[in-house]
Amino acid sequence: MANRNGWGRSRSVPTGSPRTPPETFVEQANLADSDVYQTFDDDWPDCWHRAADLLSWDRPYETVLEDADPPFYRWFTGGRLNAAYNCVDRHLEEGRKTHAAIRWEGKHGECETYTYRDLYVAVNEFAAALRQLGVEEDDVVTIYLPMIPELPIAMLACARIGAPHSVVFAGLSADALATRMDAADSEYLLTCDGYYRRGDAFNQKSKAGNARLELEHDVETVVVDRLGEELPHVLGDREWDYHELREEFSGATVEPVSRDAEDMLFLMYTSGTTGEPKGVVHTTGGYLAHVAWTSRAVLDVKAEDTYWCSADIGWITGHSYIVYGPLALGTTTVMYEGTPDYPDRDRLWEIVDRNAVDVFYTAPTAIRAFMKWGEEYPERHDLSSLRLLGTVGEPISPRPWSWYREHVGDGECPVVDTWWQTETGAILISTLPGVDEMKPGAAGPGLPGIDVQVVDEHGEEVDPGQTGYLTVGRPWPGMARTLYGGDDQFRSEYWERFSEPDDGEWRYFSGDAAAIDDEDYVTVLGRVDDVINVSGSRLSTMAIESAITDVEGVAEAAVVGRSSGTTATEIYAYVSTEGGFDPESGDVREAIVDNAESTIGPIAAPDTVVFTPELPKTRSGKIMRRLLEAIANGDDLGDTSALRNPEIVGEIQATIGDG
Ligand code: WT7
Repeated sequence: MANRNGWGRSRSVPTGSPRTPPETFVEQANLADSDVYQTFDDDWPDCWHRAADLLSWDRPYETVLEDADPPFYRWFTGGRLNAAYNCVDRHLEEGRKTHAAIRWEGKHGECETYTYRDLYVAVNEFAAALRQLGVEEDDVVTIYLPMIPELPIAMLACARIGAPHSVVFAGLSADALATRMDAADSEYLLTCDGYYRRGDAFNQKSKAGNARLELEHDVETVVVDRLGEELPHVLGDREWDYHELREEFSGATVEPVSRDAEDMLFLMYTSGTTGEPKGVVHTTGGYLAHVAWTSRAVLDVKAEDTYWCSADIGWITGHSYIVYGPLALGTTTVMYEGTPDYPDRDRLWEIVDRNAVDVFYTAPTAIRAFMKWGEEYPERHDLSSLRLLGTVGEPISPRPWSWYREHVGDGECPVVDTWWQTETGAILISTLPGVDEMKPGAAGPGLPGIDVQVVDEHGEEVDPGQTGYLTVGRPWPGMARTLYGGDDQFRSEYWERFSEPDDGEWRYFSGDAAAIDDEDYVTVLGRVDDVINVSGSRLSTMAIESAITDVEGVAEAAVVGRSSGTTATEIYAYVSTEGGFDPESGDVREAIVDNAESTIGPIAAPDTVVFTPELPKTRSGKIMRRLLEAIANGDDLGDTSALRNPEIVGEIQATIGDG
C-alpha cells in the first residue's frame, strides 16, 4: 500500500543506528554550541551576520535581507566587497604570506604548492592580462580548463576585476561549450592545449576551436600550455599564450574592484530538464558568506588545515568547496588532476597520506567504487591525519557510509552527508559535526537558519516517517538569484509549485523527494522524476537502490521501470558487486530481493536483477538512468555521448540477451 503521498511506505527509509561524534572532535570543533539552531531562529534573518562577519567588506552592508520582490531576494545590500581580496590579499595582510593556499597534485606525480603570496602574484598578473585583452567589469569570461592551478587562478583573477566567470567542465563537448558561451554572450575564453586522463593526452584546444567556429561573435582566447612537448603549441588568430601573458605582466598588480554584494560573481550552467542548460547566477556577498560559513560550521575547516575536496572545479562543488569557501578561510586547499584509479586504486589515499589531509570531502559514487575495489587500498597508507569526512552529490546508504567511516576514517572521524544543489550555492542540509548525532542514511536536519520542510502535493508538511517533496521555506544567502536571462523560468521552475504569492508565502522547491523523521533528519531519496509506478504505487527508485546497496557484496545499483504494455510495470535492477563477490553465486541476488521486500515492501522487490561490472555514468558521475531504462525496455538509446564509460552499454545488452 502506498502512503497518502504516494511515495511508497514509510519504512522506505533505511537509516542506521545513531552515532555520537567523538569527544576529541567536539572539543576542537569550530562550532560546538547546540543552541545555534535556536539562536538562528530567534534572530532570523539577522543571524546571517555571523556568515557575513567571516568576510572583509569594503563598505558594510545596510540590510541583511531585502525581500520586497520575491523570489528575487537580495542579501547584505549596500555592502561592497571583492571575492579575490577575501580569498587572497587579506591573508597576506594577516602575516600568512608563506602559508600554502593551493597544493596541486598533477597527473604525473607532480606536486606544486602555491603559497598565498604565490597565488597573489599569479592572480594579479593574470588579472592585468585580462584587462589588456579588453575584459571589463561584468564581461563574462568562460574558463574551459581541467584541474590545473591556472583554473582557480583564473577564477580569482576574474573576481578581482569584477568579471563574472563561467567555468565549463573540461570534459564537456565543443557543442556544450559553444551553447554556454552563446547563452552568456561570452567573448573571452581561457583553455589549454590539452590534458591527461588515465595516462592519455587529450586535445582540448581543438574542441575549443570547434566551439569558436560555431559562435557568431569573435572570441579572444588564452591558451595554457599544459602538454609541453607532447602537442605543438601553435597559436592562431586572437589567441594568446597564458605563460607569455603572465611574463608580460610579471609583477603587475591590479586593485581589486569593489563589487556590490549583489553583483554577479559567476555563472554556472547546469543541465535543465528540457535539455537546454540553465545559467545559474550567483552573486558576491551572500554566496561568499554562505560558502565560508558552511566550510567553517559543517566541514570544520580551519586556517591551519590541509583540506581536500576531490570534486572537479568544473562543477559547483569545486567552486564552493575547493576554491571560494576554503580560500576565504585562509586554509590550504588540495586539488588533484586525474582519476582515483590511476596510476593505481590507492591514488587518493596516497595524496591524503603525502599531504597529511585533515578534512576530506568526496562523492558517494566514489565511495562505492572504493568499496568495490576493496579495503586493501586505503590500508596501504597512513590516513591518521584525517579528522572529518564528508560526502555530497547523491544519497549514501548506511553500508557505504559505514565503510567510509571505518576504512577511511578509522572508525573515529565524524561523517557529514551534505545536501545541496548548484542552485542552493552552498550546503543546506547536514549534521553539524561538533553538535549533532549522525544517522547513517540520513543527511541531517536543515542547517541553522535553513527552513527545510518535506511537504505533500498540497504543500502541507508530512508526518515524521512519511515521504514527500523537499522544499525550503525561507531564503538563504547563497541561493541562486535567478537564471541568466531567465527570470520567468527561475520563478516557474523553483518557486511556483509550492508558493502562495497571494498570501505572501514563498517556498523553494528543490525537485527532490525526501523523508523526514521525528528529529527533523532528512533522508533525500533523489529527484522526483526518478519514480516508478508499480500497480498504482509510486516508488522512489532511490529508496529501492538504497535497500539494494545495503546488501553485503553490492557496490552500486540503479533501478528503472520496465513496462511491457499488457502487464504491470516491472522493477528492473542493475547491480555491480564488490571485488571478490561472485554475483552468480545466487546468494547476492536473493539477498537483494529480500532486502527490498523487508525494507520497503513486497511491491518493491525487483523482478529482474542484472549484474554488470559497472553502471553507465555521465562525466559528472551521475548514473544515466534514462539509458538503463531504454536498455530495459528495448528502446532506442538516444544520445550516449555524455557517457564516461560508453563501452559498458554493449556489455549490459549482451548480458540481458544471454539471460
Ligand atoms: C542534486 C543536485 C551540490 C553538490 C553536487 C551536485 C543530489 C546532492 C545530496 C545528498 C542526496 C544529494 C540531489 C540534488 N544530491 N547532495 N547529500 N544526498 N542527494 O549538484 O549537480 O546541482 O545536483 O544532487 O538530487 O538535487 P547538482
